[in-house]
Amino acid sequence: MASLDNAAARAVETFQPGPGMHTLTAGRGLLFGGDYNPEQWPEHVWAEDVELMRAAGVNLVTVGVFSWARIEPEQGKRDFAWLDRVLDLMSEAGIAVDLATPTASPPPWLGHRRPQTLPVDESGHRLWYGSRNQFCPSSPVYRERALALVADLATRYAGHPALALWHVGNEYGQICHCDESAKAFRTWLKDRYGDLDTLNDAWGTTFWSQRYSDWAEIITPRRAPSMINPSQQLDWRRFCSDALLAHFRAERDVLRARTPDTPITTNFMGLFKPVDYWSWADEEDIVSNDHYPDPSDPLAPARAALTHDLMRGLAKGRPWLLMEQSTSAVNWRPHNPPKPPGRLRLESLQAVARGADGLCYFQWRASRFGAERFHSAMLPHAGPDTRLHAEVRAHGRELRELASVAGQPVPARVAMVFDWPNWWALEERGRPSDRLNATDQLFCYYLPFWERGVSVDLVPPSADLRGYSLVVVPNLFLISDEDAAALSGYVRGGGVLVVGPFSGIVDQRAHVRTGRFPAPLRDVLGASGEEHRPADGPVRCRWTTGTEFAAHTWTELVAAEGAETMAEFAEGGPAVLRHRSGQGVAWYVATMPEPDALGELATRALADAGVHGVLPDLPRGVEAVRRGDVLFLLNHGTDTVRVPLPHAATDLLTGSAADGELTLSPQEVAALVNPSPTGNRVRS
Ligand code: GAL
Repeated sequence: MASLDNAAARAVETFQPGPGMHTLTAGRGLLFGGDYNPEQWPEHVWAEDVELMRAAGVNLVTVGVFSWARIEPEQGKRDFAWLDRVLDLMSEAGIAVDLATPTASPPPWLGHRRPQTLPVDESGHRLWYGSRNQFCPSSPVYRERALALVADLATRYAGHPALALWHVGNEYGQICHCDESAKAFRTWLKDRYGDLDTLNDAWGTTFWSQRYSDWAEIITPRRAPSMINPSQQLDWRRFCSDALLAHFRAERDVLRARTPDTPITTNFMGLFKPVDYWSWADEEDIVSNDHYPDPSDPLAPARAALTHDLMRGLAKGRPWLLMEQSTSAVNWRPHNPPKPPGRLRLESLQAVARGADGLCYFQWRASRFGAERFHSAMLPHAGPDTRLHAEVRAHGRELRELASVAGQPVPARVAMVFDWPNWWALEERGRPSDRLNATDQLFCYYLPFWERGVSVDLVPPSADLRGYSLVVVPNLFLISDEDAAALSGYVRGGGVLVVGPFSGIVDQRAHVRTGRFPAPLRDVLGASGEEHRPADGPVRCRWTTGTEFAAHTWTELVAAEGAETMAEFAEGGPAVLRHRSGQGVAWYVATMPEPDALGELATRALADAGVHGVLPDLPRGVEAVRRGDVLFLLNHGTDTVRVPLPHAATDLLTGSAADGELTLSPQEVAALVNPSPTGNRVRS
């Protein structure tokens, strides 16, 4: 097997698993389980649940996410007796509980009595109960009721042997335009700008006669006759993410004061636009995520890999928890085909390979009623004697073979920069093309690295880049002076940088940086531009080696200023440039090349950086990633493939040996370790 290069080996040596996740996996190995909603079932069913959970190797369940109305049936009343019995059952069965604060879905009595706790949309319409998530993040009444409940919950279960983890709320993402939110927005703006003149400058309110003369005039960006001020929108998005974070923190602090040794998490949703997860991740003990790949999307495996790498980035390299996935079909896409047999295992092991120490599902037992009746579960309506449940059980059992993977890092020498405020700013209305999007750009640039078996860390623009040999910036339309200086310094110090189009265009207020673009990166890139030229139809380009390729959607009129032109537009002018700056190299891409051309670019940049994939000659569709001393190979393709191995290896999942070559059928996974001369596993 390819030996770890020095940087990767150092990463393995210096890595310390975070105390949060370690407290969960110690003695348990990888975590396996799901959301458990016993309040939907009579108690006699609970005993069967526990028996089946044990048979499936379940060691963690998330309890109580939507139980506010059950715990507090009327304002101020408490009914914890049922929850006591659930937690006692779990502790007797040796199953750890991830106990939720049930504040994502307030009961109807709260909305009925206090409608001001309900959210208001951008048209000024109130959204009602009868579904879930109906709260205003800035409502003092909601906050007070939620915290009172959380305090009682924490007091009651502090020290309970089943309590292993707190799950705060659920998938935060509420946005509210009510008067209370407007008031909170104004307070947030006062904090940020101090006085109205500074705010007026920041928002460029001389445009379209938008000048504010009194703080009271400032409202949330409600529906308006034409395009909204982009700087106002950007601050609004920042505020919305911060307002939710403030609520999360308030619940967290109540929990922490009562149970200081119990780790706290809240479930993220991958590349979810409304919430800036970089600003959230440090506020929790364990990063967890919900991920639902679309079984009909051929690129779903690469998208999942990207999301998992983002979670590892948010966790700063520490293990993270896949809090929710589905065993088969979801019910919230318009058409919901099931996952084929074997897919559940493949997807789950992919998350393990990319740093997850826990694999949980929504949900344990399929609901009989409610909006998610037709969502798959670990235990389907048809019962335990089913193909799906048999797969769940087999997967739970085999995860025990991977217990030693828990806590292991995924070393990466390539970083990819992603930023929420940039996402928000880039995708405001009124730009040259709405076909250039932050997450599409991210994915286009990520894909060739995934195909080449090169591990990538997702990082924020402010990250310390010194440990990386290659940094890719798919897009940073919005960039601060400091972050631009850090990228330039990184290159001068010997790093290799790739920058995608329409980067370095606006500052943090979303004001255009005047002069030739990308103004703050011009020196390091050795190139600059003067016109953005969105394209209709394919754009013909040519590498200077003579090979042609197609690009699409976007072109720029740029000139080399010291950089070498590596590819040109057929109509003339540089399309891809490479510049030696200090000890390093910077690439600039002034268009959107087709996937093969981005692959070629990745190959060249990797060569500049001296980085290679974990295995040479990776067959198409096979994902290869190293975690600690285990090399994971996952066949997402539809053909049986042979993967050449440089060394003999043993598969932890099957115990079988492979020498020189490994045969992987579709959806098959191998977790390979080097065998010692005695046949025992060697740890690095
Ligand atoms: C998640 C949510 C769960 C459940 C699941 C269904 O987004 O947290 O409560 O609704 O989706 O896929």
